Amino acid sequence: MTLRAVVKGVGHYLPERVVLNSEFEATLDTNDEWIRARSGIERRHFAAEGETTSMMATAAVHAALRSAGLGVDDIDALIVATSTADLTFPSAATMVQAQLGMTKGFAFDVQAVCAGFVFALANANALIVSGQARRVVVIGAETFSRIMDWTDRGTCVLFGDGAGAVVLAAEEAAGTSDDRGILATDLNSDGRYRDLLYVDGGVSTGTSGHLRMQGNQVFRHAVEKLAATATTAMERAGVSASQVDWIVPHQANIRIIQGTAKKLDLPMEKVVVTVQDHGNTSAASIPLALSVAHAQGRFKQGDLIVTEAIGGGLAWGAVVLRW
Ligand code: UT7
Repeated sequence: MTLRAVVKGVGHYLPERVVLNSEFEATLDTNDEWIRARSGIERRHFAAEGETTSMMATAAVHAALRSAGLGVDDIDALIVATSTADLTFPSAATMVQAQLGMTKGFAFDVQAVCAGFVFALANANALIVSGQARRVVVIGAETFSRIMDWTDRGTCVLFGDGAGAVVLAAEEAAGTSDDRGILATDLNSDGRYRDLLYVDGGVSTGTSGHLRMQGNQVFRHAVEKLAATATTAMERAGVSASQVDWIVPHQANIRIIQGTAKKLDLPMEKVVVTVQDHGNTSAASIPLALSVAHAQGRFKQGDLIVTEAIGGGLAWGAVVLRW
C-alpha cells in the first residue's frame, strides 16, 4: 500500500474591491482593449487598506475547512505560498495559524513566486507520503497590489490580490495511476533568469520595493517550460495527456494558457480559466482557480487534473493529481 495526499476540501477569498481595466485609463497610457487582447484580463480584486495576505489566507482556510468538513484542530500543518507576506518575518503561515487559533502542528511559508503553490503542494505531498503529517492545508495568498509601480503600465495592469486554500489528507491507496490524490510532481528553477522578474526591494534595500518584469522575455520561457514540466509530471504519474480531464494552469496570461494547452494537445474546454476575473494573483492563482471551478461543480471525483505554473526565479513546476 502507498500513502497518497488526497484533496478533501478547497476554498478561496477575494477582496471586495473589483477594479476594471478602464480604471487605469485615467492615470496611464493604456486601455481596456490592449489589456484584454494581450493578457485576457478584464478585472481584478485589490485588497482594502489594512487587509493583509495573512488575513485573506485565513479566510480561504476557513472556507476550505468548511468544504472538507474539518476543523482547525484536525490540521497538522499549514503551508502558505506567498511572495507578499505581511512582514519580513514571522512567516505568513504562523500569522494564519494564530488567526485560526491553531496551537499545535507547524506552519511555514514557501517562496517560489507565481510557482509557489505548485512548490507548496509538492512539499505538502512529501510531508504526507513520508508520514510526517496526516492533514496539511496548502494556501496560496498574495497582495501584489502592495508591490506595484503604479506608473509602470507594463506590470500594474496585470496583477491582483486574493487567496485560495486546499486541504490535503493522507489516504492509503494501491500505488497506481488510478489512485485519488497527488500522483506526481515536477519542480524546476534557474536563477540565471532572476532579472526577468523580480522585486527591487527587500532587506538589502530597506524597502519592500516594486515588481519589475521583462514581460515578453518571461513569455518566451513560459509556454515551452510549462508544457515540458507538465509532460514530465504526467510521465512520472504514468498518465498521458489524452487521459487528462482538466488543466488548472497559473493564470498570468490567456495567450500563455492557450499556447501551453496547444503544445500539450489539449482543447481549451479542458482548461480552467479565471484570468479574466482575477488577473495574475501569483501563488494564489491556481488554488483560486481550483476553488472557483469546484464551486461551479466542474470537477467530479476521479478526474485527472494537471496544474502548472512559472514565475520569478525563474521557478516552474507541475503537479498531477486525481480529484
Ligand atoms: O506570473 C509570472 C509570470 N509572468 C508572466 O507569465 C507574464 C508574461 N508576459 C506577459 O504576459 C506579456 O508579455 C505581457 C502581457 C506582459 C505583455 O504582452 P506582450 O505582447 O509581450 O507585449 P510587449 O511587452 O512586447 O509590449 C508591446 C507593446 C510595447 O510598446 P512598443 O514598445 O511596441 O511601442 C509596450 O510598451 O505594448 C506596450 N505596452 C502597453 N500598451 C498599452 C505595455 N504595457 C501596455 C499597456 N497598455 N498596459
